[in-house]
Amino acid sequence: MPLQRRMAFVGAVLAAAAVLPAAAQRPDPPPVAAVRNMPYADARPVVEALRADLLPEPLRGLEPEAREAAWPAWVAARDQAIRARLARGDDDTIVNFLLYGATFTSAPRPSPEQVAALAQADAALPDSVAARIEDLIDAVAAEPRTERLAFARDVLARNGFDPAAPSARDRLRAHLAAEVRRGPAETLRISETLGAAISRSDPDAVLIDQTAFRGRGLASDTTILSAFAVERALEDVMSARLLADAAVTRAALVGPGLDFTDKDAGYDFYPLQSIQPFALLDTLIRLGLAHPERVRLTTFDLSPRINRHLENAGARAAAGEPYHLALPRNMDLPWADPLAAYWEALGGEIGEPAGDVAAPPGAGNVRTRGVEVRPDVMGAIEARDLNIVLQRLAPLPADELFDLVVATDILVYYDVFEQSLALANVAAMLRPGGVFVANTTVAALPGVPLALAGQTRVGFMPVPGRGEVHDILAWYRRR
Ligand SMILES: C[S@@+](CC[C@H](N)C(=O)[O-])C[C@H]1O[C@@H](n2cnc3c(N)ncnc32)[C@H](O)[C@@H]1O
Repeated sequence: MPLQRRMAFVGAVLAAAAVLPAAAQRPDPPPVAAVRNMPYADARPVVEALRADLLPEPLRGLEPEAREAAWPAWVAARDQAIRARLARGDDDTIVNFLLYGATFTSAPRPSPEQVAALAQADAALPDSVAARIEDLIDAVAAEPRTERLAFARDVLARNGFDPAAPSARDRLRAHLAAEVRRGPAETLRISETLGAAISRSDPDAVLIDQTAFRGRGLASDTTILSAFAVERALEDVMSARLLADAAVTRAALVGPGLDFTDKDAGYDFYPLQSIQPFALLDTLIRLGLAHPERVRLTTFDLSPRINRHLENAGARAAAGEPYHLALPRNMDLPWADPLAAYWEALGGEIGEPAGDVAAPPGAGNVRTRGVEVRPDVMGAIEARDLNIVLQRLAPLPADELFDLVVATDILVYYDVFEQSLALANVAAMLRPGGVFVANTTVAALPGVPLALAGQTRVGFMPVPGRGEVHDILAWYRRR
C-alpha cells in the first residue's frame, strides 16, 4: 500500500449483466510461453541510465563486459533473495491476523492510537493485545479449525515454535509480543525517514516515498480499494483514447494478492480469497474494454501460496464450481460515494449476488456482499509463477502480447533499479500501444519503451482535518 494511504490509515482511521460464455466457447488458450530471466541486453539501458549509487553494489563499478558476464548470476541470486522476502511478509500477515482477526478471539481490536503506540519499545502492551496473543496461541495449539489458523501454525513452526507444545508457550508469547511491535515500528521508521527527507527538501524524497517498502517483507494483502482505483484509472485511459472499446483481449495482472486479514479492518470471517483478478475482469467488461467472450487474464505472482490458491480455484471451476467473493465494507468508515457505488456494483459482470455474508460480533460494524463468480470466468484466468522484477514470458508471439498490464501495491516494495527492471519486463510483454497501470510512478528510463501517459488521483474517503485517503495511479503506454 502506498505510503500516503497507509499513513493516513494508521494515523487516522485505522483505517444484469453481460454474460461470459462457457469455457468451451472461449478461444483455445495460447500455447504456454516460458518464464525466462531477463537478458542483459534489456537491462543494459537501465544500468547505463541510472545514477551509479542506485545500482546494486555487485554491479557497480564494473567494466561493461564484466557487468554483462556477472548478470546471469546476479539475476539468479537476486531472484532467490526477493522470493525469500515472502517469509517476512507471512510474519506480517500473522501480526495483522493477531491484531485484527475476529474469529479466534473475543478480545477487542486495538485502536489506531494503540497500534501506533506499539512502535514505542517501552510502551506497555494493551490488555486487549495481550489477550489476543493468548487466544491465538490456544487456537493454533488446538487442531486448526480454519485455513488461516493452519497457516498461522505453519508460519510459527517455520520460525521454530511448536504451538502444540505446552513448554513453548512462554517463548511463543514473547515472540508474538515482539512481533506486534515490529510492524508498527517499521511503519514509523519509514514515515520518519520520509518526513525528514521532506523537511530538508531532499530531492530524493520522492524516491524514498515511491520505494518506501523496499526493506519490508513481501505482503500478500489486498482490498477492494486497489480494484476501485484501477477502474477509475482505466476510465481515464479510455477518455485519453489510449485504449479503444474491446481493445483488451489479453490482460495481465501482476501480484493478484490474497485477502487474509486486511491491515485496516482485519476481516477474517470468510474463506481466503483473491479479489483483484475477478474485479479486473469485471471492470474490463463493465467499461466495454473487453469482450466477455474473448478476454483472457494471466496473473503473475512469485508467491506459491497465491498461485496455488488460483490454480485450485481453476480446478474447481473446471468441475463447475463457482468462486465465492466476500466483499466487506466497514460501515464506520466514510467511504466516498464513487467507492461505495463501486462496492455495490462489483461482480455484476462476472457473477450473481449471493446475499450478505454473516460476520461475528467482534468484526464490528461491517456489511459483506457475497458474489458467486461463474466458473467460466475463472476459466479465463491463468496463474503463472513469475518475478516481475527479473523475469518475463518469452518469446511471446505478436498476437499474444498483452494489451494491458496492471500492478498495484507491488513496485513500492522495490528499489529504483528493480522498479526500472520491472518496467522493462512489462514493456517486453506489452504490444505496441499497450498500456501499463501501476500505483507507483517510476521514471521510465531512456531505452525502456514505455512512456508515462498520465495519472489518475483516486480519493477513497476523507480523513477529518487531514485531507483524504487517496492513491495516485500512473498509466504508461508502450511505444
Ligand atoms: C501487497 S499485495 C497487493 C495485491 C493487489 N495487487 C492489490 O493491489 O491489492 C502484493 C502482491 O504482489 C506480489 N508480488 C510482490 N513482488 C512481486 C514480484 N516481484 N513479482 C510478482 N509478484 C510480486 C505479492 O506476492 C502479492 O501478491
